[in-house]
Amino acid sequence: MWVFAPFLTIKQPVALIVAWVHGCVGLYLWLRFRSWFDRAAPWLLAAAVTIPTAALGGYVAAGMSIRELAQDPVWLQNAVAAMNLPSNAEVSTVYRYIENARMGFVLLVAAALAGRMVRLTVERRGRDAVLRYGSGHSVRATVGMSVLAVSRANGIPHASVCGGRGRCSTCRIRIGARLEALPEPSEAEAKVLRRIAAPPNVRLACQTVVIDGLEVMPLLPPHAAGVSEAHGGPSYLQGRELDIAVLFADLRGFTQISEQRLPYDVVFILNRYFAEMGAAIEGAGGRIDKFIGDGIMALFGVDSDPATGSRQALAAARAMSERLADLNASLEGDLSEPLRIGIGVHLGPAIVGEMGYGRVRGITAVGDTVNTASRLESMTKEHGAQFIVSQVVVEAAGADLEPAPTVEIDIRGRRQTLAVRVVMDASTLPAST
Ligand code: FES
Repeated sequence: MWVFAPFLTIKQPVALIVAWVHGCVGLYLWLRFRSWFDRAAPWLLAAAVTIPTAALGGYVAAGMSIRELAQDPVWLQNAVAAMNLPSNAEVSTVYRYIENARMGFVLLVAAALAGRMVRLTVERRGRDAVLRYGSGHSVRATVGMSVLAVSRANGIPHASVCGGRGRCSTCRIRIGARLEALPEPSEAEAKVLRRIAAPPNVRLACQTVVIDGLEVMPLLPPHAAGVSEAHGGPSYLQGRELDIAVLFADLRGFTQISEQRLPYDVVFILNRYFAEMGAAIEGAGGRIDKFIGDGIMALFGVDSDPATGSRQALAAARAMSERLADLNASLEGDLSEPLRIGIGVHLGPAIVGEMGYGRVRGITAVGDTVNTASRLESMTKEHGAQFIVSQVVVEAAGADLEPAPTVEIDIRGRRQTLAVRVVMDASTLPAST
């Protein structure tokens, strides 16, 4: 080919590039929501560019060598003889096969297109439905499609932070008409609806199928996740489900302390406390999500993985306890009693994204894992402990908390109990975590 038909040499690179790009796009669409994808993306991109470039380089180099060798008529004659080329009759037969194959391919494509058109026509005739939106808008849709899919297909903005996987509840809709004709929510949908205490006429658009005459009203603004303004940063800014460790901490009895002090003093003490706790969290590799009154919420593992996040959360809890002891020592003369803290940590899937409004926007997390971590923090009061951590965090971190008792607790909205470790003093956590 490089000697007798150089113009055909372009075919192979074109075929390779088309197949390679096609494969890469498929892999990207498949893997992009995996928690490790952002970290692996630069390496995958490097491999995606380097491998075909090296292959094409080898192809061109080999071709150029052959062209050079072919300048020698003896070498060329021997090479052609070694190729065992077909006779003219055999070549004609091969070309006939190629023609037949081409014709067959064209007929197959035409048949596939015709079949699709027939199917669409039949579907439109037999399964058409009208879906009405509370805004007065109505669209035609195929019975059985999800309401979210219909919104997307018709360019109707609809919040869907988890991408339609029934996890985030941001696509929730109020059903105005034909509620009674809808199938019951699946177990997964019912669980999410229970978590948001949804009334019976509220469903998830991504899980609700269209029936004729259905009337829906999306309940959250379409850009609840701030998607449009989150471009340019990590992909999770647009809302993504990640396995992260969530830490909640709260000062115990601070309301009584603050009642006895001047407002200036309260602000001073709280700022000292926040500075120490913030340094402990960030020093361990965590991300402060927000300060809520005298409480703190922090995320771990957003940019790494669940094991690292769990280790960081345990290290942060230990550092917070140690720093609180130091702070109490330095405020000894100022406080009638030392500051006490309760910390809860849980690991699991949460929707992470940039949320908020106007200038008050930031990366935060929502979901069961966040609620459970908050619940563990408040349970420290009942157990008189400084730290309660779910067993799943301990196992992910590979930590040894052996002296800390394991307790099975009920969490509202969870069917199964949750195994947690109750640690009286977080400063006793193993330093290796
Ligand atoms: S899009 Fe998240 S629950 Fe429907």
